[in-house]
Amino acid sequence: MIAPSFNHQIWKALPSAEEITDAIPQSITDNLLEAYNRSADWLTSPNSFTRETHPLLSRSAQWNKRLYSAPGALRLSTSDSYTDEDLRLLYAMTSRSLGYLNNRYTYFFDVKDRGLDYTKEAIPVSKTKAETGYHTDSTAKQYFPDIVGLLCLQPALSGGESLITNAANLLHYLQENFPHLGELLHVPLCRDVITPGTVQDLAAIRSNDIPLFQYDEQGGVIFRYMRYWIESALEKLDEPAPSGLTVLLDAIDSYFAHNENAMRFRLERGHMLFVNNRFICHNRTAFIDGDKPRVYVRSWMNQQPQE
Ligand SMILES: [Fe+2]
Repeated sequence: MIAPSFNHQIWKALPSAEEITDAIPQSITDNLLEAYNRSADWLTSPNSFTRETHPLLSRSAQWNKRLYSAPGALRLSTSDSYTDEDLRLLYAMTSRSLGYLNNRYTYFFDVKDRGLDYTKEAIPVSKTKAETGYHTDSTAKQYFPDIVGLLCLQPALSGGESLITNAANLLHYLQENFPHLGELLHVPLCRDVITPGTVQDLAAIRSNDIPLFQYDEQGGVIFRYMRYWIESALEKLDEPAPSGLTVLLDAIDSYFAHNENAMRFRLERGHMLFVNNRFICHNRTAFIDGDKPRVYVRSWMNQQPQE
């Protein structure tokens, strides 16, 4: 095994919102829409467009550098005067410039309050208005996105702010302060299964076991986390928590709760947020809709094609 070296992911200091922000000039976005004649193929088959000839390629090379090492997050701003349809197309083009789009929940999934409660039924928290809690996306053992994208079409009336924290810093903190829990960081833990059709399938939950921390080929951290789905899996399996797990999860929660460990910012209409889902853990605060409901659009990208 390669000795883990995740220095490239570590935040030396908490990044400011400005540090992760880049504005895409309107001359570029206008040209993109015209060059492709506003083709809806960007929404229905984004991977049919090649990255090698992508008009954003030179910019996305810089963006990917900022995503695959610290800070691991990027907020891109575009003009807020575009229509929703144009913003969706620009988002699809930008997402594609960063990787291959995944289609598990459709390529571009609308994140909005659907009046549901993830604590009462097995549904993704992206269908609610609750605070999500810190997590990385995808509870499926076999699949996780490298990059998670969000486009803001309509911010909430209040709340709904973005919070991000760094799992490489978290791992360093846990190794320093909780050395006796070290083994538990890498032991596979069952996660609840929320894929339609497999809910309450105990065998599926039992085999959906994933360590909190793994390492990639470069020794970088891969963090797969959502406390709620770990605890609901144990409850459904009617199994006691492994020794020390509650102490560990509490330590993780208290690390997240310190303001100096998490960036907090708001997305306005036309903003896109991309985070590296391997080592950046995200959260959003609870929100209240105004006359127009809050609408974000999520995309999942990978460096390698998944289908
Ligand atoms: Fe998420």
